[in-house]
Amino acid sequence: MKLLKFQSLVALLVCMLVTGCAEKTPHPGEQVWVNNCKVCHEVGLAGSPVFGDVNAWKKRIARGKASLYEHALNGWGDMPAKGGNPDLTDDEVKQAVEYMVINSQ
Ligand code: HEC
Repeated sequence: MKLLKFQSLVALLVCMLVTGCAEKTPHPGEQVWVNNCKVCHEVGLAGSPVFGDVNAWKKRIARGKASLYEHALNGWGDMPAKGGNPDLTDDEVKQAVEYMVINSQ
C-alpha cells in the first residue's frame, strides 16, 4: 500500500517536472471553442479576430476581459451572441473566450 502511494507520487512528480503534463490537460474552453467558435475564428470569417493572431487580439485584450466576455455573450458587430448557440451557458462562453485569449497573446 505504502509502495503504491510512493509510486503514484513519483509518477506525478515526473509528469510535472519532465513532461509538463499540466500544460497538456485540455483547457475547459477548448471543446466549446472547437464546436462553436472555430468555424469563424480559425480563419477570420466575417472579420473575426483569428485564433493565435497576437496583433488582431492585442487591442481587444487591452480593453479588458469584461469587455470581451460582454461582447461574446451578447454579440457585437458581426459577432453573434454566444457564437450563435443560445444553449451555451455563460460560463462555457467565457471559458471559450479565455481559451482563445490565452492562445492569442
Ligand atoms: C459567425 C462567426 C462567428 C462565430 C461563430 C463566433 N464569432 Fe466571435 N467574432 C466574430 C466577429 C466577426 C468578431 C469581430 C466583431 C467586431 O470586431 O466587430 C468576433 C469577435 C469576438 C471576440 C472579440 C470581442 C471584442 O470585444 O473585441 C470574442 C471574445 C469572440 N468573438 C468570442 C467568440 C466565442 C467565444 C465564440 C464561440 C462561442 C465565437 N466568438 C464565435 C464572429 C464569430
